[in-house]
Amino acid sequence: MPAPSQQQIIDALRPVEDPELHRSIVDLGMVRSVEIGRDGRVQVAVALTVPGCPLRNEIQSRVTLAVTALDGVTGVGIDFGVMSDEERAKVREIMGGAGHGAAGHSHAPGQAHGHAEGKAVPFNQPGNKTRPLLISSGKGGVGKSSVTVNLAVALAQQGYKVGVVDADIYGYSIPRMLGTDRDPVVIDDMLVPPEANGVTCISIGYFVPEGQAVIWRGPMLHKALEQFLADVFWDDPDFLLIDMPPGTGDIALSLSQYLPRAEVYVVTTPQPAAQKVARLSAAMAQKVNLSVKGIIENMSWFAGDDGKHYEIFGAGGGQELADELGVPLLGQLPLVQELREGGDDGHPIVAAHPDSEAAKCFQEIARRIAVDMKPKKVFSAALKIN
Ligand SMILES: Nc1ncnc2c1ncn2[C@@H]1O[C@H](COP(=O)(O)OP(=O)(O)OP(=O)(O)O)[C@@H](O)[C@H]1O
Ligand SMILES: [Mg+2]
Repeated sequence: MPAPSQQQIIDALRPVEDPELHRSIVDLGMVRSVEIGRDGRVQVAVALTVPGCPLRNEIQSRVTLAVTALDGVTGVGIDFGVMSDEERAKVREIMGGAGHGAAGHSHAPGQAHGHAEGKAVPFNQPGNKTRPLLISSGKGGVGKSSVTVNLAVALAQQGYKVGVVDADIYGYSIPRMLGTDRDPVVIDDMLVPPEANGVTCISIGYFVPEGQAVIWRGPMLHKALEQFLADVFWDDPDFLLIDMPPGTGDIALSLSQYLPRAEVYVVTTPQPAAQKVARLSAAMAQKVNLSVKGIIENMSWFAGDDGKHYEIFGAGGGQELADELGVPLLGQLPLVQELREGGDDGHPIVAAHPDSEAAKCFQEIARRIAVDMKPKKVFSAALKIN
């Protein structure tokens, strides 16, 4: 069996995607050279986008698999190198999308200086198809982050492309809850978000040393959020879920400017006190011209071993709030230990126990948001009259 030609090997490598950028490694310029020995042994030189690329092993196995599949190949060796600045800039150009970038130095979000001004947030451009979903509540600890993560995973399981922005700058929790095990990768001035459970996410948690508090003023928060939206390579997701911090204020205001089409989903627990605070969050949304589309009630009951539902946090708050706002109550989530555990160890219940009652409830809420709540008209800035 004769060894394949160089062209045949490159053709075989073309469908191999970079696991982070989801583009052909050949098109990205990662395949630097291919050599074929007389004995059928193939040596491929691969340039990684960044040194210490966390997905090097994955790339290695994808390349090996693709080349070994060719007739006449007796073995595959890979030499890894790292891209030069020019090569990275080219990758950045190919990826287009995020930032539409004036060149700038990469740095942690929120850093006031050195930021390339005037970057476009792709989600407020005419024709953009991403639906931004703001998961908010006004009150702390009602389960916004848990709902964000599980809804995101449920939507991904239903075949949608999903990103999550952790907008809780002071009390970030998404990386831990979603279970991402690596930091974003910086290519030129583009941040490539890590992925876990089929969902990509960005959080300030990736940029501050563990255990250190973030103490920022309003303008810094605004800048950080802008970078989360404009500098991150989101790659046109169907949904971008935003985990809101507790309370109302600065962040909601900033987000309403960047994401004027955002749909607000309010999480509440069933008792009147929580419902009252949740109502404030709805009022806040209206003040910044965003509309509340639905209510999600969390911790609605605890099912005991006896099968009985114990309504630990009262009953009826979600439905009452929904009626008051004239929006649907999209679901009632039970209080379950596995949900809390899944949040603590990065295995969202929707992924870890997809057949559980809570997971099914998340799946149904995801379906209702994706299908029933789908905006009827396509947004067009040109048609907006005001
Ligand atoms: N339905 C549930 N069953 C069991 N535990 C839950 C449930 N919902 C949330 N929790 C747990 O309650 C705690 C608070 O939830 P979470 O962090 O999602 O709330 P939050 O509204 O985002 O809080 P914060 O306002 O601090 O951001 C977490 O430990 C979470 O695992
Ligand atoms: Mg939270």
